[in-house]
Amino acid sequence: MLHADYAIIGGTGVYDPALLENAREEEVKTRYGVAGCTIGEYHGKRIAFMPRHGKNHHTPPHQVNYKANIQALKELGVKHIFATAAVGSMRQALAPGALVVVDQFLDFTKGRPLTFFEDGEPVTHVDMTDPYCSRLRAHLVTTAAHAGIAVANGGTYVCTEGPRFESPAEIRMFAQLGGDVVGMTSIPETVLAKERGLCYSAVAMVTNYCSGMSGAALTHQEVLDEMAKNVHLLRKLFFDAIAALPLESVCACRTAAGGSM
Ligand code: HPA
Repeated sequence: MLHADYAIIGGTGVYDPALLENAREEEVKTRYGVAGCTIGEYHGKRIAFMPRHGKNHHTPPHQVNYKANIQALKELGVKHIFATAAVGSMRQALAPGALVVVDQFLDFTKGRPLTFFEDGEPVTHVDMTDPYCSRLRAHLVTTAAHAGIAVANGGTYVCTEGPRFESPAEIRMFAQLGGDVVGMTSIPETVLAKERGLCYSAVAMVTNYCSGMSGAALTHQEVLDEMAKNVHLLRKLFFDAIAALPLESVCACRTAAGGSM
């Protein structure tokens, strides 16, 4: 039977096939659709790597099948998720290349499937006091310190619908509301993981200052280029974190949507 305990969700650069032993590409069929991932071992731990945008990176953020992705990880037995996302920064202090272990979100998506709890599943209002698992966040911050990788401990992720970038007026509004970084993928991924009782953490990688801040137009290529430059740091952070994380950890995420531990 297919099984993994840990998952990394990210862009293709985060995954290095050389890192996993006995790696196999798998397609997990769920009632919400099919999700592809690569499953293998690292230091004896079973890890699923899931490219959020599909194998060829073609699915735009607003059309990613987040429900299939998270359901697939649940069905594989995953307990701990480390996700990454490219973001723009609204703060001068968070320059391109910065890594942010985000701890809050503001949801500005518009038309995405938002929940598992519809279409006959019991009405459930999942707790969002701790949107990104505080236990995994603390572990990431400690791991980064040991590895000598600079991370910002906490930050508010504003999720927009995309695929367009924001207007400068939107960015001014988001900054006033308390946002620190802007991306297009954390919602509903974070919420769905919590609904399924999974511990979910995300490290945002700043690829650019947000629109209107640098005076120049923003391009997708600039985002990809900056991501490629720094992705090795994220890879090290995630793999070190997984190697040092115990398999069984009691966490409130398990019961955020009800049920018992
Ligand atoms: N806005 C939204 N998403 C992003 C950005 C941005 O500036 N950079 C990378 N992903």
